[in-house]
Amino acid sequence: ATIHDQKATRGNGGELHQIAEGDTPVLTTAQGGPVADDQNSLRAGERGPTLIEDFHFREKIFHFDHERIPERVVHARGYGVHGFFETYESLAAYTRADLFQRPGERTPAFVRFSTVAGSKGSFDLARDVRGFAVKIYTKEGNWDLVGNNIPVFFIQDAIKFPDVIHSVKPEPDREFPQAQSAHDNFWDFISLTPESMHMIMWVMSDRAIPRSFRFMEGFGVHTFRFVNAKDESTFVKFHWKPKLGLQSVVWNEAVKINGADPDFHRRDMWQAIQSGNFPEWDLHVQLFDQDFADKFDFDILDPTKIIPEEVLPTKPVGRLVLDRMPENFFAETEQVAFMTQNVPPGIDFSDDPLLQGRNFSYLDTQLKRLGSPNFTHLPINAPKCPFQHFQQDGHMAMRNPVGRVNYQPNSWGEGPRESPMKGFRHFPSEEQGPKLRIRAESFADHYSQARQFFISQTPPEQRHIADALTFELSKVETPVIRERMVAHLLNIDETLGKKVGHALGLETMPKPADAAVATRQDLDPSPALSIIQR
Ligand code: HEM
Repeated sequence: ATIHDQKATRGNGGELHQIAEGDTPVLTTAQGGPVADDQNSLRAGERGPTLIEDFHFREKIFHFDHERIPERVVHARGYGVHGFFETYESLAAYTRADLFQRPGERTPAFVRFSTVAGSKGSFDLARDVRGFAVKIYTKEGNWDLVGNNIPVFFIQDAIKFPDVIHSVKPEPDREFPQAQSAHDNFWDFISLTPESMHMIMWVMSDRAIPRSFRFMEGFGVHTFRFVNAKDESTFVKFHWKPKLGLQSVVWNEAVKINGADPDFHRRDMWQAIQSGNFPEWDLHVQLFDQDFADKFDFDILDPTKIIPEEVLPTKPVGRLVLDRMPENFFAETEQVAFMTQNVPPGIDFSDDPLLQGRNFSYLDTQLKRLGSPNFTHLPINAPKCPFQHFQQDGHMAMRNPVGRVNYQPNSWGEGPRESPMKGFRHFPSEEQGPKLRIRAESFADHYSQARQFFISQTPPEQRHIADALTFELSKVETPVIRERMVAHLLNIDETLGKKVGHALGLETMPKPADAAVATRQDLDPSPALSIIQR
């Protein structure tokens, strides 16, 4: 950076006044009024009280006092980067989504990577899930694929989201520990929630301490739908695969890095982009129909399950390239508002109860955080395609309908009109049944895929999982919670359960946890899940 040797004068107290001259812009108030002195407030006498008529002082302090907005209730610490999505081939057979029609076409994108549990000022190398939220500004509106770097989730029903998040955040009476998962409340909740076992194995693995955002996978997690121009639907799962491959650090490295450089991941991304090393991911899809879905022992609507890639290989359909840092962190990264319900025509939802709940939640949270229903007027959230509607007014309205018409139908021939052909048509899936609060039996096997993940890992990776569980559970002070967890581990893998149980000093091993349904011991390990093999 160039250091400017600015012409300056000194005031009575030796304070520095850098004076505008030549082309240098004149400092103004927010109302545009030119400022003569930004170093001294207006006083009655040299050593007297500050005067209430000092509008410049009042405005400057007022604005500073209102700089903070609530941090995100989850994923508070994040780092955003601009880039583009490029389509490899036409997917018209599966989806009418415009961005997937023309090979080689590029669509602008913004990605925010994040940790889930820590506050905005927490450290980058926490053992945690990483958010991988992608906003693609398509010609038919924004598509937000709000994913994580782990392909499954802790819970099967969105009604449990406040509980899992409360349990992982600092405990309400003492407001610690900040060290994310390492405490009684979290492990209490997890040990009482068998559906979380698959995700827990991923979180205790090296996946949860990535080397860099550039070496992480991303997953849409849920089963979505593609819908083509003939209104035919295909189920789809989305995966981002980094061109650089997967890399993690080991726990001892993570602990040191957190102490020496808590900004390690954002610094890595900043430096990579500044030096022209633009990170890339391929977007892969797994495509399948209802008959294929019906063959599984598990439910494709269950977000605690993956569809193994050996059974259904993934197919690359495009790439994401990140090549530009935001000009302003707050304006872009902090104010970006991702919402799972932002989908263009041709992409639709499944009945996954977690996805359904998310579609409800994100609009609320954006209003709370950004403070106005007009958060779509912020440039980072506004579509980049033409858009026109009759929504108006509200706090900070910057785009109101122009002219007489702010309703429809109208007789004036003005304003936008509906389009049954071009507009979003919800896939008319057949839904029926009694109104119930119930979990389907097809969601009941909580151990088979946890085991499959564990046995797919290389011996060093398995050791890391055992060490992580031992470290985390050794921080738990309540013996029964430790025992409950070991009982689950015995059900996932006996050797793992015993190893952790012994390391925790349990005198007798608990009985393996009751499984609601028989779990499958015969699953093949899935090499695709191992980090070290790559
Ligand atoms: C934020 C992913 C489940 C509510 C986020 C973010 C990501 C994410 C990546 C950060 C977005 C950003 O960078 O701005 C996921 C994934 C889930 C999941 C992958 C499960 C598969 C849920 C559920 C709920 C929920 C079940 C609620 C019912 C929220 C809220 C925010 C958030 C309130 C804060 C949004 C903001 O203030 O900008 N989620 N989430 N999430 N998520 Fe989720």
